[in-house]
Amino acid sequence: MNDSHAGVEPTLPRRSRAEKERQKKAARKIRRKKRAQAAANQGSRIGRLMNEYSRAAILRVGKNSRNRFNQILADNSLVGDSAWFERDQFPWMKTVEDNWQTIRREAEGVLEARDLLPAIHEISPDHDRLSEDGTWKTFFLYGYGIRFERSCARCPETAKLLESVPNLSSAFLSILAPGSHLPRHRGPTKAIITWHLGLIVPKDRENCWIEVDRQRRLWSEGESLIFDDAQKHEVRNDTDEERVVLLIHFDRPMRSPGSWIGSSVMRAIRWSPFVRDGRENNLAWENAFEEALQTRSDGKETPH
Ligand SMILES: [Fe+2]
Repeated sequence: MNDSHAGVEPTLPRRSRAEKERQKKAARKIRRKKRAQAAANQGSRIGRLMNEYSRAAILRVGKNSRNRFNQILADNSLVGDSAWFERDQFPWMKTVEDNWQTIRREAEGVLEARDLLPAIHEISPDHDRLSEDGTWKTFFLYGYGIRFERSCARCPETAKLLESVPNLSSAFLSILAPGSHLPRHRGPTKAIITWHLGLIVPKDRENCWIEVDRQRRLWSEGESLIFDDAQKHEVRNDTDEERVVLLIHFDRPMRSPGSWIGSSVMRAIRWSPFVRDGRENNLAWENAFEEALQTRSDGKETPH
């Protein structure tokens, strides 16, 4: 063998990387097929009109233009462009914060049926890479401006308090089971700001955390954490207790042209198949939830 064959050994890691990439691609393809099947099974109009390949095309276009748009939004932000925001930048949050115990009481009512609550990927299948084990559960009151009436009726005081949030986009109970881990990821746009109001926080606080841009914060009950989810963030609940926050997205305050670019981006997201499928999934889940609760309460009333 001549020396030229010495190059064979170093190519092995490259081949294994290629193999990994091939496996990833295959897994993505399977996920795409599953989502298309789910949409078809639900009879979703959008599912029929937009096949998985056009969804992939939207994702590609979105990813390519995301950084450019986000830079304009950051340049026009009226609250700066940091990973974490200060509480006093948003004085209107006080109305909701002052009533956190009322919100928590309503959340506890919902959590009595925690086994029926959907994992995030059951509502938004595009989140399947984030929480494959189903340990991140949700209860949506609003999603991208859509109000879920039946869920709001289950938490009427919370729904009323949400009316005080300027330019509310989404609001849901975000429930992280013990042992949950959401690997580093980032949201698509700086057009919104994320607000967590702590409702139920494990006693072992140090082991339940969120990092945004590698800066770690801990939740406290009744207190707010506010951040830019377009920056890379990671979440971990390494305790044996559940963590519950009211998660709210609201529009980032911006001057023009950022404000109109922001609203165009949000309009595009709202009309995308991702959000429209999510809306249909959540409406279907709401109906199933109400029926299941009815069956349970009928069962309790039936004498055995
Ligand atoms: Fe996130």
